[in-house]
Parts: sequence; structure tokens; C-alpha cells
Amino acid sequence: MRTTLIVGNWKMNKTASEAVRFVRELAGVLAKDPAVEIVLAPPFTALESVHGVLGSVSHLALGAQNLHWESQGAFTGEISGPMLRDVGCTYVIVGHSERRTLFGEQDGDIHKKIRSALANGLRPILCVGESLDERELNRTDAVVTGQVAAGLAELTAEQLKPVTIAYEPVWAIGTGRAATTEQAVAVHRAIRASIASGWSMEAANRMRILYGGSVTPQNAPSLLRESEIDGALVGGACLKTESFATIVLAAKNRPVH
Ligand code: PGA
Repeated sequence: MRTTLIVGNWKMNKTASEAVRFVRELAGVLAKDPAVEIVLAPPFTALESVHGVLGSVSHLALGAQNLHWESQGAFTGEISGPMLRDVGCTYVIVGHSERRTLFGEQDGDIHKKIRSALANGLRPILCVGESLDERELNRTDAVVTGQVAAGLAELTAEQLKPVTIAYEPVWAIGTGRAATTEQAVAVHRAIRASIASGWSMEAANRMRILYGGSVTPQNAPSLLRESEIDGALVGGACLKTESFATIVLAAKNRPVH
């Protein structure tokens, strides 16, 4: 059975002091529930202070939004896996579409980042998704499964265990236009089938596949009702206590599959 995972991707929002205030409030609202795992991914500058607040609230895990593949060295402006571990991260988002489109990250870079995350004991969340053009050309499944294969290339089934995949159609991110539940389920199925053929049925059944892209308190119940959708990667709606808590509640109330 796959534990539902809700990830809040704060992107470039909140200073460290704003983050501390917000997480104190959030931690008070989000009750512990073994059926739902919650990850907060604030900006690098807030990781340490958020970790300080979370210390006593172990049901909220800490994630970073990116990492460099090397552990240290002359890489001005970059942050490495060991640095993230040191400030209490257990998860890291890799290959977010904003990294791919705005900062030119390629599948090869993303693959190195996945390997580095794993080598440093971080659980990578590999983001994949098609553009609107690609969807209209009926290339969605090919693009998305291609990104999965490139990101996870040559990993063993054992190495896949800590990995989560987030399906985030580029056209749905920050647009208010989420994929329909049917669209998301179809792509999740294609991703799971590609894990089954590339690795094994067992690896496919174990893999958590999240949906991301304009997830809101309104559409979360419908998305999370589906056994194929193992959770959500939430951007805009994770920045307010009430909307994030309502999405987490939808995850708690989802049918047991
Ligand atoms: P959004 O972002 O929920 O604001 O669309 C999701 C994401 O980019 O992970």
C-alpha cells in the first residue's frame, strides 16, 4: 500500500521569519495521521529555521526545491545534497518544470541530481510533464515516460524505493487550469506502466505518483479519490494555512484503496 503524500512547494515565497510564523500556525492545524505524509518545501533560506520549528512536530517533513549534483566545489550559487541533509531535509524536488523551462535544466542534469539525492539519503520527487503543444500533438505519454526513463536511467529497482514521481502538466502549473481527474489518471497509468516495463510490476506498484498543477481545495477531493493518484504537489494553494490544510484533509478523507 502506498502512503498518500502531500507536498507544499513554496517556490520563491516567504522570508525565513514569515516561514517560521506560517509553519507554527500550520503545525497547529495539521493533526498527525499515519495515512498521510506531509512535506513542506520552503526556499533554501528558510530551511534551517523551519527545521527548528518542526523539530518537535515530526509529522511534517522538510524538503528542498532543488539541489546540485556535486557535493561541494566551485559552483557559485548552488546548494548540495549534504548541505540539505545537514539542515534537516529528507526530501528534494528534482526537475520541476520551472527549473526545466526557466533555468534550462536538461534530462541529463536531472538524472545526476536524482543520483546525488539518493547518494545523500534524500528522497527525490522527480517532476515530469508535457507542454500544451506536446499535449495537442498527442505526445503526452511519450514525453512524460521519456522524462521518467531519463531521470531514473540505470537505477535498480532497489534504488527506486525512495523515489516519488510528480506528474505536473506544464500548462496546468500556476494557471488555475488543472488537468481533469481523467487526464491525470490516464497519464499516471502510462507512467506506472513504464515503470513496470522498465523495472518490474512490484516497482510499479510501489511507486508513488503525485499530481501537481493548480491543485486547490476544490479539485483535490476529486483527484485524490482516484487510487492511481497517490497525493499532490501543491504550489499556490500551499501558501495559505486554510487552503493547504483543506487539501491535506481531502487526502485524509480519501477512500482506502
Ligand atoms: P501550482 O504549482 O499548484 O501553483 O500550479 C504546482 C507546482 O508547480 O508544483
